[in-house]
Amino acid sequence: MNLVVVSNRVSRGKPSEPMTGGLAAALLPIVEKSGAIWVGSSGKVRDGNLKEPFAEIEALGTGALAMLDLPAAHYGGYYEGFANSALWPALHSRADLIRATQEDYLSYREVNAFMARALLRFRKTDSAFWVQDYHFLALGAELRDLGVTEPIGFFLHTPWPSRSVISGVPHHRELIEAMLAYDLIGFQTDEDCENFLSYAQSDLGLVVHDGVVISRHGRTRAAVFPIGIDPQQFAQLAAKASTHPDVSRLRRSLNGEKLAIGVDRLDYSKGLINRIKAFDRMWTLHPQLKRTASLLQIATPSRGAIEAYGNLQSEVARLVSDVNGLHGEVDWTPIRYLNKGYGQAVLAGLYRTAQVGVVTPLQDGMNLVAKEYVAAQNPVDPGVLVLSKFAGAANELDTALLVNPHDIDAMARTIAVALSMPLTERRMRWEAMMAKLRSHTIQQWFADFTEALHECQLDREALAPVIAEPVLWPLRSVPNGGARYH
Ligand code: F6P
Repeated sequence: MNLVVVSNRVSRGKPSEPMTGGLAAALLPIVEKSGAIWVGSSGKVRDGNLKEPFAEIEALGTGALAMLDLPAAHYGGYYEGFANSALWPALHSRADLIRATQEDYLSYREVNAFMARALLRFRKTDSAFWVQDYHFLALGAELRDLGVTEPIGFFLHTPWPSRSVISGVPHHRELIEAMLAYDLIGFQTDEDCENFLSYAQSDLGLVVHDGVVISRHGRTRAAVFPIGIDPQQFAQLAAKASTHPDVSRLRRSLNGEKLAIGVDRLDYSKGLINRIKAFDRMWTLHPQLKRTASLLQIATPSRGAIEAYGNLQSEVARLVSDVNGLHGEVDWTPIRYLNKGYGQAVLAGLYRTAQVGVVTPLQDGMNLVAKEYVAAQNPVDPGVLVLSKFAGAANELDTALLVNPHDIDAMARTIAVALSMPLTERRMRWEAMMAKLRSHTIQQWFADFTEALHECQLDREALAPVIAEPVLWPLRSVPNGGARYH
């Protein structure tokens, strides 16, 4: 199978490259080792003849990376507009933040159509396409319109919300119908998959049976493939990173003080405000933790041109400054707040230095920082993960200290417990989490998805004469969660 992987953001494979989010870091090792071609945005835009997309192509391990300049006239409406001001808030159950114009929607569709045309260049007889994330919900349908008959899969890295929330997205019906051109749609959790199937059945009136939706496009299988990491490789990176100058400087600066670490894109879904309030509360409830435990919060700027992100940046900065002003002393700063990105080679070492990892999003598809924090720990003296129960990772990492990110008092108490947890309990919890990470690696995720995609293709070929007939579907079956590949 000649696999073509598609995502908006790509990674060029340099460990010093600032963290660009879970997806790009996760896909890198599988493209490098599987020989796939990875197609995405170059981050640049271009005017002119959009019928002939320009791609810069370079080798990436045994695979290749093709970076496209996206159409200048549509980029803003696509990325800042429809993808990140309509879909992103809805997918994270923030319907109150949905903003989208008709132009944004049209630009989103234009960029999906542009990407489909660009992909034809990488198509071979035994190609399969694997589209990633909410930027390209309609790409499968665009490829089918161009006559592509090969298997096309889609994986959603974010959550999929309830029917009422997704219905707040303009053109939701048209978009979700377009998604049914995919042979296989993968989700992070059972709940995401069930929400999607419930929409297909109740809002689109389609037959859903055993995780398969029947539509005018044929059969679409929806299933759960929780994304993983390469824990062994990350552990090696963390051990090596202990000599990195940034990591050594951090360690020296601590002087025996305990450290909690948070690493997030500066995004309202990450729960940064509540997390900082929880630390404020903790130092008020447990004044003995002043000077003995601090927080290092790395918040990488993201999507800065969007109003909600600009507002969040100001709000977080103000809150950090208030908390430092209240609890700080002449020689002690409670929160070190860094507004920039770091490469994984440094992050791995920072995670290993911190006794507590705080990952407390309000909603998150998976959250690979949680998994990376665990993999980076020193096995003989591991740190404690404080994890939101609303991150997909909580389904697997159930021996973390799970918290409700809306309950600030409870979070404050839990972080204090984490800071003083005895070694035996830390090891027991950590070993159980590592066992899960080792059994659901990124390589396994890749193998499970591509195998399921291949099976969908076999089913489609076998059923082609049947589904070519127009069918009336009077029956409705109860949606179920679909298969779980895990
Ligand atoms: O899951 C959504 C996602 O694609 C993540 O993988 C990543 O953290 C983020 O969005 C990247 O966002 P952007 O490319 O807009 O910075």
